[in-house]
Amino acid sequence: MNIFTNDVMKNKVVLVTGGATGIGKGIASLFGQYGAKVMIASRKEQVLVSAAKDLQQAGVEADLCVCDIREPAAVEQLMVAVRARFGGLDILVNNAAGNFPASIEQLSPNGFKTVVDIDLNGTFNMTKAAFEHFFKSAGGNIINISAPFAGWGVAYQAHAAAAKSGIDSLTRSCAVEWQRQGIRVNAVAPGAVIDTEGLERLSDALAGDAGSTNACQASDIANCVVFLASDAARFISGEIIRVDSATGVDLLKLPST
Ligand code: COA
Repeated sequence: MNIFTNDVMKNKVVLVTGGATGIGKGIASLFGQYGAKVMIASRKEQVLVSAAKDLQQAGVEADLCVCDIREPAAVEQLMVAVRARFGGLDILVNNAAGNFPASIEQLSPNGFKTVVDIDLNGTFNMTKAAFEHFFKSAGGNIINISAPFAGWGVAYQAHAAAAKSGIDSLTRSCAVEWQRQGIRVNAVAPGAVIDTEGLERLSDALAGDAGSTNACQASDIANCVVFLASDAARFISGEIIRVDSATGVDLLKLPST
């Protein structure tokens, strides 16, 4: 369903981390469909090349950059690449994340740290660099991808929930600090989205058929992200919007004792 005119993102430059697969690819595609120039970034070159080709074949001005968002130096290089390719940046979508199902008992300190590093510290690295390189002087728009369970307890996802709670907090703080600089910062918290690596990784631990019956599609998330990036949301900042049809995503089944 098209909720905007086809040129609503014309001349806008959007950078989507984790933009080669799943939700990120859906977001990159929708921005492209609405006329944006799109840079996708992730750690994996192969999937980036394939996704960029898909975007270009759909008529989108798109490019790719390999980047591990945990590395501030790599993030700096990404910003330089965006400037060189597109001349500026209007919208940053912090979508890249790492996850696996594990109980707290199974989680090593490095396992916990790895997910927090990717999700929370990576989002900070990207946000800070985009601010310094682009948004500080010209304003901008940031949309972070969170998770509904960040707001409450969830089994087998203590690491991801902690990281996403941090993202929610960072979202609110950035929104307040930067509101006078014309920078809006919001988050979208997707439910279980079908055809994503995230759902695949968690599916063994999914309770019953909650994953399939309640799952939404990447396009459902993308529609909300485009809305938040558009002028229709010009007075919305510091919000975390759940897009999960109120399913709550209380997905993971505790083992019987
Ligand atoms: N259960 C428990 N611990 C796990 C685990 C699992 N299923 N998978 C990884 N870990 C732990 C590792 O054991 C390691 O800790 P250790 O050093 O104490 O053994 C730590 O996490 C780091 O794992 P590693 O594979 O070295 O890190 P990485 O940076 O290469 O990979 C991950 C990052 C862990 C997020 C990995 O799952 C990944 O690459 N995922 C792909 C992207 C993804 O997650 N997509 C879904 C997004 S929702």
